Amino acid sequence: MKYAQFLIALLFAVSARAADFPTTTAGGESINIPTAHSVLMLRVGDDGRVYELHYGAPEKEIAKTNVLARETELYPPFGDGFILEPALEATHADGNTSTDLIYVKHSTTTIDTNVSLTRIELRDPAYPFFVTLCFKSYAAEDVIEQWTEIRNGENGTVTLARFASAAPQFKAREYWLTQFHGDYKTEATMDEEKLGHGIKILDSKIGVRADRFRFPSFILSLNAPADEETGETIGGSLEWSGSFQLAFDLDFKNRLRALCGINPFASEYKLKPGETFTTPSMLWTWSDSGKGQVSRNFHRWARQYGIRDGNKPRPVLLNNWEATDMNFTEQLIVSLFDGAKKIGADTFLLDDGWFGNAHPRNKDNAGLGDWQANTNKLPHGVSFLASEANKRGINFGIWIEPEMVNPSSDLFEQHPDWAIQQPKREFIYGRNQLDLDLSNPKVENFVWGVVSNTLSTPGVSYTKWDANRFVNQPGSTYLPADEQSELLIKYNFALYGVMSNMAASFPNVMAMACSGGGGRVDYGSMKYFDSFWPSDNTDPVSRIKIQWGFSHFFPAETIAAHVTQMGKRPLKFAIDVAMSGALGVDMDVRKLSPSDLQFLSNSIALYKKEIRDVVEQGDLYRLESPYDSARAALDYVSADKSRAVLFVYQLKGGEDKSVKPRGLDPQKHYRVRATNDREVYTGEIADGATLMRDGLPTECHNAFDSAVIEMIAQ
Ligand code: GLA
Repeated sequence: MKYAQFLIALLFAVSARAADFPTTTAGGESINIPTAHSVLMLRVGDDGRVYELHYGAPEKEIAKTNVLARETELYPPFGDGFILEPALEATHADGNTSTDLIYVKHSTTTIDTNVSLTRIELRDPAYPFFVTLCFKSYAAEDVIEQWTEIRNGENGTVTLARFASAAPQFKAREYWLTQFHGDYKTEATMDEEKLGHGIKILDSKIGVRADRFRFPSFILSLNAPADEETGETIGGSLEWSGSFQLAFDLDFKNRLRALCGINPFASEYKLKPGETFTTPSMLWTWSDSGKGQVSRNFHRWARQYGIRDGNKPRPVLLNNWEATDMNFTEQLIVSLFDGAKKIGADTFLLDDGWFGNAHPRNKDNAGLGDWQANTNKLPHGVSFLASEANKRGINFGIWIEPEMVNPSSDLFEQHPDWAIQQPKREFIYGRNQLDLDLSNPKVENFVWGVVSNTLSTPGVSYTKWDANRFVNQPGSTYLPADEQSELLIKYNFALYGVMSNMAASFPNVMAMACSGGGGRVDYGSMKYFDSFWPSDNTDPVSRIKIQWGFSHFFPAETIAAHVTQMGKRPLKFAIDVAMSGALGVDMDVRKLSPSDLQFLSNSIALYKKEIRDVVEQGDLYRLESPYDSARAALDYVSADKSRAVLFVYQLKGGEDKSVKPRGLDPQKHYRVRATNDREVYTGEIADGATLMRDGLPTECHNAFDSAVIEMIAQ
């Protein structure tokens, strides 16, 4: 067919298809997506497009006659009139680079008394190209989970260049953005700035361990810098463990749009005829009483819906990584079980170094990929260790890093093509290792085999899933040339396949997500994990800030916090810091003095009996920030406000100011008791209003003094 004939045929085909998809719309229709204390208000314009009117306080009245500016389109596509940063950019099968999205219908389904799902169906009037905007609202938690489904009904491939999960807008005088950035050992460092005009991008381009330099969550404060207790504040968190982009576009009318989703950078995606691309979900929560409430909303949501085993207590772990590194024998590990028993740990977690035979894992330059127990170190295998632990009443857990391979391994010798790599380029190693190419189903199957074989070992009831490098040569020997840009997206979808198999097949094996510390901390992976390892920096002075950062989005039960000797701080200080998260220990406890050993085991007993449930299930109030003063303070209050635990950490010498708890019931009378070896209070009684107004002296004066204060309603 000649080119001109082809064009005419194409034109007919397109107009025929357009006729199949009528463009009548319900202009003026309102769509409200409420939660207990917020609402997202949308309206279908007379032009059939869906516009965002408001996200925030529920009592907002909006006149029907409001003119809907094109820039306020809810999910703006590129190429047919929209002039700012678009949420969607698609090249249709015929080469047309423009898309228009017109309302077709919407439905709201009640899932249960708390959760409902609104689906708004849009289509391009000229193409069988469909976009469904999905909003799950969790009323009690004030959370809206939003994602987008993009379906290609055309006869040829549609190329997606942008595919945001969500792109809501906000209207305020000023916008203050807090991000959580860092690097290995400085994870979750908070940084707040006032947004100026133009686009501010927070992103990751490294595909795997993608949160290494920043995790995909943010706090947006309207009109003033974020405060714990006051002000309109929005929290956003993307459920995605790969490269992400959070783009904040402040436009010429001082409206702010937050475009959030998979990073479109170098990630063009070919959507085949009949295929649907479902974006990861974005979580939103709004509060008019500061970021403290934003965090509590996320925590409550996470425990009910966002993480594994949200209501189960986390075991107290004894981990051997800082104590032994990879240098251990079977005998040494078994001897550590007795220490675990002595201190009252629930689970012993065997870390890296237990596998590899032709390429033994004695250092980080060999063995990854060969997941058989090293017969020199562990002559009787992993199940023997597990049974020795079990005999002593201790559960047993094991470390894996299933997505990775060392070039020095049987696996790499047999399948060098399974590593992510770029043709004609020398390998660039990270920690002497490469990422396996999970876009290849054979590799995905292998990785699932590693997980399932290891976790099927009799006696294994816990795992730490690590991932110690990112991608900087994103090429696949498996994907065809024109799909190379899809590698990192396909990798992460395949990863979730394996993780969700793990969660479904091993419901009794608890799991900690780790990635060289906090390189994979997001609600995409946390669906399949009970907790995460926030940082290899376990110096309690640094941990206070790191745990503080993560606490903005993740509940304390997910934040693994181990007592170690890093930083050589006083033992009480290290324990008190770890007690404000999911307490564990990483030390050779045989080397502790008898009095330290006794103190550690008393603290663990106290934690399990009186502290753990309040910390893990309670509401968090951040009282004094380690960023602003010589000390940090926080408290947790049980849902019924009958119990609270307050932590104070002195970072530098200073005066002993009273610390004011929050979240108590003003009417209730609380018995106040400082625990864990600091008997400042021994049972005084005061009402919640007085405690919150006058505060409590702490007797913390010197650097590394700390206090744990319990308040129990009478
Ligand atoms: C990463 C983790 C550590 C430890 C080592 C083992 O660095 O963050 O906790 O598991 O790997 O190699």
